[in-house]
Amino acid sequence: MYRTFTIKSLLQAGIFALALNSSLPAVEGVGVIGENDSDASKFRLMWIENPTTEATVGWVQKSGKPGVVHYGKIDNQRKHHLYSKTQAVHRTVSIEGGANCFAKLRGLEPDTKYFYVIKDEAGVSRRLKFYTAPEKAEPFTFINGGDSRSNRTTRQELNKIAAKLKPLFISFSGDMVGRPTDKEWDTWFSDWQLTISDDGTIIPIVVHRGNHENKKDAITKEFDTPNDVYYAFTIGGDLLRFYTLNSEIPAEGAQSSWLNKDLEKHSKKVTFTAAGYHKPMRPHVSAKKEGINPYKWAPIFYKYGVDLAFESDSHCCKRTQPLKPDVNGDEGFIAAIDDPKATVYTGEGCWGAPLRKADDGKSWTTDCGAFNGFDWVEVTPSSLKLKTVRFDKGASAHNVKPVARRNSFETPDGLSIWQAKGGAVLTIKAKKK
Ligand SMILES: [Fe+2]
Repeated sequence: MYRTFTIKSLLQAGIFALALNSSLPAVEGVGVIGENDSDASKFRLMWIENPTTEATVGWVQKSGKPGVVHYGKIDNQRKHHLYSKTQAVHRTVSIEGGANCFAKLRGLEPDTKYFYVIKDEAGVSRRLKFYTAPEKAEPFTFINGGDSRSNRTTRQELNKIAAKLKPLFISFSGDMVGRPTDKEWDTWFSDWQLTISDDGTIIPIVVHRGNHENKKDAITKEFDTPNDVYYAFTIGGDLLRFYTLNSEIPAEGAQSSWLNKDLEKHSKKVTFTAAGYHKPMRPHVSAKKEGINPYKWAPIFYKYGVDLAFESDSHCCKRTQPLKPDVNGDEGFIAAIDDPKATVYTGEGCWGAPLRKADDGKSWTTDCGAFNGFDWVEVTPSSLKLKTVRFDKGASAHNVKPVARRNSFETPDGLSIWQAKGGAVLTIKAKKK
């Protein structure tokens, strides 16, 4: 016998199904956690000085009063009232179409997953999650790249690839935008949302200043870094101390004094030290001027045995042999392969900026080339390993499989790795302390 459905009964059934549906736990990657009925957008999460216990939540508040961050270790999806903690903003910066908002979370537990939403007058943001840095010496991966102005398609694809590699953090070595206008930042942050995985994982960014961020406060207004944009942190217990330096202000003076003191204090304790900054000491593009200012750090790096330096600005890729500064060497350096104090220099930045021919290799250059990409690094107690992700014209992030787990360093299917001279994987072994 056929059962007769009236419009009324169908409507009631639909309403019942909807009610039932909303009471079900949300499945990560779809539906509820990704919705956003707040006026908060353009999400970013910064690591500055204490990433084992702190993270700075940032966003654009399009209208109304700044929202409040609701967070905790339990995933309450978008039910903001169920989160155990709240944090109000400590800083807002007026921009065209709203305000950059920053709320610093403190007292976090190391190596822990946190969930958060932003609740404002309009509603609740999408639910995001992040991991704090470990305080034990366990393996992790990170990405360093720079120069993402001009070519949005490449920038977007590399952002999507970064998300698929599930690193602990992304260090970004400047020249995000062509001009640091609100409009260009707005577009850049729209694209940055592509580094957020479908399950809402947001990767902490460690920001450096480039010459295109040519207003003194350009970086701090977007990321709430210290005004002078140099700082350092240690992660993995004593596994890595990472320095963010600012090549757009004098390398000498206060900055070098701080760097010397900090390395004096920490370099003997930690297994690895690395530094990132925008302008290379010795560009591998002939049209670029020599980096007289950043070269002033080379003797400091050597004195304290800094293992790896990430450079940007030239819009090509390079990696060097371990180098020792020497005024009689080729452009101020000699290769010092077995010298435990020597530094490997890598990068030169192209995350979507116009490529330039790598036509200025040195006697101590391992390899260089003109292509887009970024460095992908694995840090373990015994070694620091680096692969360079290569993104050629016509490639697509769509073809790249996500890595199986967070901090995996296994090259996933579809990912192109630079087959550099000297080997695709650059290895720096831990020194005996
Ligand atoms: Fe630059």
